[in-house]
Amino acid sequence: MTDPLVRVEDLQKYYFEQDSLVDRLLGKEPESVQAVDGVSFDVREGETLGLVGESGCGKSTTGETLLRLREPTDGAVYFDGENVFESADLDEFRKRAQVVFQDPFSSLDPRMTAGQIIREPLDVHGIGTKAERRERVEELLERVGLSAGQVDRYPHEFSGGQRQRVGIARALALEPDFIVCDEPVSALDVSVQAQILNLLEDLQEEFGLTYLFIAHDLSVVRHISDRVAVMYLGEVVEIGPADEIFENPGHPYTEALLESVPRADTSEQGREVDPLAGDVPSPRSPPSGCRFHTRCPYAREACKRESPGDYDVAGRADHQAACFRRVEDHDYWDSPPLGEDEQVAEGTADD
Ligand SMILES: Nc1ncnc2c1ncn2[C@@H]1O[C@H](COP(=O)(O)OP(=O)(O)O)[C@@H](O)[C@H]1O
Ligand SMILES: [Mg+2]
Repeated sequence: MTDPLVRVEDLQKYYFEQDSLVDRLLGKEPESVQAVDGVSFDVREGETLGLVGESGCGKSTTGETLLRLREPTDGAVYFDGENVFESADLDEFRKRAQVVFQDPFSSLDPRMTAGQIIREPLDVHGIGTKAERRERVEELLERVGLSAGQVDRYPHEFSGGQRQRVGIARALALEPDFIVCDEPVSALDVSVQAQILNLLEDLQEEFGLTYLFIAHDLSVVRHISDRVAVMYLGEVVEIGPADEIFENPGHPYTEALLESVPRADTSEQGREVDPLAGDVPSPRSPPSGCRFHTRCPYAREACKRESPGDYDVAGRADHQAACFRRVEDHDYWDSPPLGEDEQVAEGTADD
């Protein structure tokens, strides 16, 4: 097999709070939010890797840190074999790796026209003559389903879906190989979501793009992903082929996510038991052992004590889950179930 286009190794990103003078005098360590804590995955050339998990689990931080839009706390990211964090010259990487953000309204400068927004990366990297840039912008506008005549319009003059098309055109301007799509349809009307997803798929095929596709909505991810990684509290708890993840989930968190996907028919009795009941623990002080143990219906003593490794699911080397239940002869099976109080007693998110 060829090397992956992107390799993320033990990526860690902590946000450190401002420590006050009093805290320092008292010798207190500055508090940190452990937003991403030891995440590893590959993205193969031409594929879409979906990255899912509840809001706040560290998806955007992962995407932004691997693009080096944020400085990592630890770990490595290899892009086409080069360590992105050690590279002194990011110019080439900045051309080849792009991002499309969730909310095109706040990510596009309201004082710039669509043409200026799309042209900016070409200006920054000094690509083409003025006339060539203009031509390229028009071509990009048309490629994403807008028209060259809309080049002088401002973001507020477009609909939400059109604005996201502008964001996509900008991401395409430098002919990238890799795009982090960070919830690109989450802010859009459902009727528009499918159009944007189709556009992204067409562009992928046409330009041989590789995507890291972030979403909190599993149904969106299923549609577009070849493989899926599931995140919980700063960690990847399961990864595998999309169909496998949906049909044979190996982690209780993935199971719960799948069960909490809103169904079309909610007329009868609604959802009586929310499979993801309970607050998400705070990433400032994540639970010991398996971080999901405070919300897991299968949690036992072993889960509180010990952090699970990545185990093959159903004997497949391409599907892994971080759950002791995947290991036939693990101590887990002999350890007592956790009491209910221990499942909710841990600190909860306070932000
Ligand atoms: N700039 C920041 N400073 C401090 N904490 C942050 C910052 N950005 C995100 N966080 C925290 O890091 C965690 C992960 O956030 P994020 O990566 O945005 O999650 P997601 O994209 O999955 O919703 C959250 O607890 C969030 O509050
Ligand atoms: Mg996010």
